[in-house]
This record gives sequence, structure tokens and C-alpha cells, in this order.
Amino acid sequence: QDNKPRVTIAFSQCVGDDAWRKTMLEEMKRELSFHSNVDFIYRDAENSSEKQILQLHELIKLAPDIIIVSPNEAEPLTPIIDEIFRSGTPIVVTDRKTSSGLYHAYVGADNYKIGYMAGQYLANQLRHKGRISEVTGLPGSSATIERQKGFHTALAAYPKIQVVEKINGQWLIDKAKEGAREKRAQLLSSDAIFAYNDQMALGVHQALSEETPFYSAKIMGVDALPGENNGMQFVSENILYASMLYPTGGKESVRTAMAILNGDAYQRDNILNTLVVDSSNVELMRLQTDKIISQQRDIDHQQALYATQQKIFSNQQRALHVLVVS
Ligand code: FRU
Repeated sequence: QDNKPRVTIAFSQCVGDDAWRKTMLEEMKRELSFHSNVDFIYRDAENSSEKQILQLHELIKLAPDIIIVSPNEAEPLTPIIDEIFRSGTPIVVTDRKTSSGLYHAYVGADNYKIGYMAGQYLANQLRHKGRISEVTGLPGSSATIERQKGFHTALAAYPKIQVVEKINGQWLIDKAKEGAREKRAQLLSSDAIFAYNDQMALGVHQALSEETPFYSAKIMGVDALPGENNGMQFVSENILYASMLYPTGGKESVRTAMAILNGDAYQRDNILNTLVVDSSNVELMRLQTDKIISQQRDIDHQQALYATQQKIFSNQQRALHVLVVS
């Protein structure tokens, strides 16, 4: 490992401060810890496309060997990402996409399919008739565009299902909560509400239960992130009716970047699996993911021990060297 040439991976994240993206970064770092020849540069655009464009310009100046990017919104980020692609720097797009589709590799679940499956699932739960509302993410994010297309295509097969209300929650719990308070009556009279992520779904639940603790609308989200205070737990506690699993792809993004850097064979489109998480499978899912989380903690612990040992070893070597030359 140590005599491999040093390489730099830059990662431009559209927003860093949410549980799903923190998990993505943890997964990346865990995978990176197996490659001691990699320098990792990380930038968080904090939900701002302008900021992400600036940060990408700065990253180009640092001349990394490869860039991983999750574009906040498709249109504004397309020119800069296309420019990087054309300049020859390999680019791995993850989770959200640009409008042009120029990239060396993509890692993420199929957002059209997520919307489609959610639509079909809710239609079946409502026995093919009823009123549905939706709470979308940022309208310009590819994940919103694709989830929406899939959702509406699925619902189009059910003429007795009506979409009655649409709220733009911008991916954020507070925005969703605010929107849900404003449209409380419409949401309360909905049979189901599809929020494009679990945080917004939680925001809707909080807004509705402020005045109506036992509302009847079935709230469905996306992400089904394992761990404390995340989607999988909300489903298990019946706060959410269901959620679509949306894996973060952190490990796969780094693996793909490494394959590109090493000149190994790699897939251009790496589509991660999704499934509906509801009361029928959530406990089994939690058992499995809790186990994975505890194994990952073990790995982190082992690696920390290893790093300490290495430090002690190199200090001893240095001391020995001083002793020998003096
Ligand atoms: C996290 C997030 C997820 C969502 C994804 C879509 O920042 O909002 O909750 O599934 O981004 O890109």
C-alpha cells in the first residue's frame, strides 16, 4: 500500500448537515481508511447551488485526481460538471444528477423507481381510491424530478386516486413542517401523504399531530435510514406508515473512484437497490442493520487501534534512528 503513488479524491457534497449525508461521509471514510495512499478533500455546499459551483471551481484549482459530486440542483450545476468532465478529470456523480448526464460513473438508487414504487404501494394500501398529497424536495434537484415522474406515472393507472395538494419542502424538516401547518386542512383530509424524504415526513407528522394527535393520513417517506432517530425507527414506531430504502452509496462511490484511479474495470452506472420498508418488514430490517452498525463500529475501533500502534511504532523507529546516528 505505502509505496503506491499518492492520489487525491475531492468530494463536493451538496449539503452535509443531515443524518443521511453524515452516514454517506462515514461510509466513504471507512472505505478510504483501507487506502493509505489517498488524500481526501471534502467540501459542503450547505444546500446552495451557488456555493457548490464556487467550491467546484476551487477544487479544480487543487487539481485532484478525481472528483465525486452530489449536485444540489441539476440545471445550475450542469455547466461546471460538464466542464470538469471535458477537461478529462474523472468525475463520479452520486445520488443527485446533472441535466446532461456527462460523468464517468454514477452511483445511486433509481429515483424514478423509488417514486413509482411509492405510488404503487400507496395506491394498493388505499385500495385504488382516495386522496393523496405530496411534499417534494427542491424542485430543481434531480431526485425530486425523478421521484415525482415515477410517482405520478404510477398513480396515473388509478383514475380514482386524486393528488390533492403539493408542498415544496426543499428537503428540509422545517420547511415541510411550515408548509404542512399552512395546508393542514388539506393534509388532514388526505388518505396518504408522500414526502420525498423521511425528515420532511417527520415534519409533516409533527405539524399534523400538533392539533390532531390521531390523524388518519398514512405518511410515507424516503431514505429509511437505520440508527437512532432516523426513518427506519419512525416506521417501527408507527410515526411513519412506510418509507423507501435509499442507500447512501458512500462505500460504492469510493470503490468506483478507486477503480477508475487504478485503471480497473468499473461500471458506469451503479444502481443501488431499493425496497418498501413498512410494518411487515421493518423489524427484520432493523435487526440486520443494527448488526451491520455494530460491526462497523468494531471496524472503526480496530482501525483507531491500528493507527495508534502505527504512531507508536514510527515514534520508536525515530527514537532508534536518533540513538543510532548520535
Ligand atoms: C439528504 C436528502 C435525502 C434524500 C436525498 C435526495 O440530503 O435530502 O433525504 O433522499 O437528499 O437527493
